[in-house]
Amino acid sequence: MSEEIIRVEHLKKYFQVRSGFFSKSHKVLKAVDDVSFTIRKGEIFGVVGESGCGKSTLARCILRLGDVTDGNVFFQGHDISRLKPAQLKEYRSKMQMVFQNPFSSFNPSMTIRQTFLEIGRVYGMERAATEERSRELVRQVRLPEDILLRRPNELSGGQLQRLAIARALFLNPPFILADEAVSALDVSVQAQILNLILDLRDSLGLTMLFISHDLTVVEHLCDTVLVMYLGSVVELAPTRELFANLLHPYSQALVSAKPREHPDAPANRIMLEGEAKSAIDGGSGCRFAPRCRYFQSGKCDCDTPVLREVTPGHFVACHRYDETEEKQ
Ligand SMILES: Nc1ncnc2c1ncn2[C@@H]1O[C@H](COP(=O)(O)OP(=O)(O)O)[C@@H](O)[C@H]1O
Ligand code: SF4
Ligand SMILES: [Mg+2]
Repeated sequence: MSEEIIRVEHLKKYFQVRSGFFSKSHKVLKAVDDVSFTIRKGEIFGVVGESGCGKSTLARCILRLGDVTDGNVFFQGHDISRLKPAQLKEYRSKMQMVFQNPFSSFNPSMTIRQTFLEIGRVYGMERAATEERSRELVRQVRLPEDILLRRPNELSGGQLQRLAIARALFLNPPFILADEAVSALDVSVQAQILNLILDLRDSLGLTMLFISHDLTVVEHLCDTVLVMYLGSVVELAPTRELFANLLHPYSQALVSAKPREHPDAPANRIMLEGEAKSAIDGGSGCRFAPRCRYFQSGKCDCDTPVLREVTPGHFVACHRYDETEEKQ
């Protein structure tokens, strides 16, 4: 088995939020609630779920942009979950990020060349070496070298996102985290960027955590997929296995909501009915219960389902799989 790059163990990130607009009392919002997984070298690990389910909060915890409430994050075997900012310095260059909006992630007053020179300066690289590395990276993300002389407002979203990937690769980091990195792009440009990431994975051995609300994107790109719902992991499996045997009712609904490839294809859409619980709601029971078509009274509303391995490598948190491996 290849080297472990990221290991997250029982990670929790809770926020204190006001109970109401005029209220002085607080409630606890469980944005990430007991999440565990491992990412190995060369793996593209996908995290998918609706907006607000805690994907970006999870990302911030892994990058240690803020404190974690409980649990641990290991980077290449080192527990970084309680390190102070000064101690985190050596890890910052090893974990790079690609953001959703490439336009706001580049300094508009600098050319791309100046942006790269600035990174080289911060990390103590020789100017000539920085220039050489910049040209090499631009070629790697399949852009012409003269693009280095342009400013962000002279570039398209797709070009800028390629450059954001190049920037993330600058220091040859062992780990890249991409949060909704293709969500702001047109579908055809999205496909080009996804193919570029796949090529870079093959040529450079990239290890990546790829976050998206879009299941189609995750299916195309990722080796492993983790499905999140209101702060918790509901299903986790290698991508092929997950899409061949969707177990959790939420994953099934997400897949059925995918746009059909052809208008004549049958629409087996599962409508998510009922009001979603909130990550603030306390109490036991399954968080998906109000929207679940398999809801079992006396079970799903009482006991919180735990994530368990129902077939090798395929984990699900749902009472339907408590006794038998598969009931459907
Ligand atoms: N700093 C914060 N303070 C309070 N609540 C927050 C904060 N950051 C995120 N949240 C809440 O945590 C939940 C998860 O948010 P987020 O991680 O941004 O979700 P996603 O990236 O999946 O859309 C949401 O309910 C959001 O409102
Ligand atoms: S535990 Fe019950 S409510 Fe939750 S997803 Fe499974 S069947 Fe539905
Ligand atoms: Mg987000």
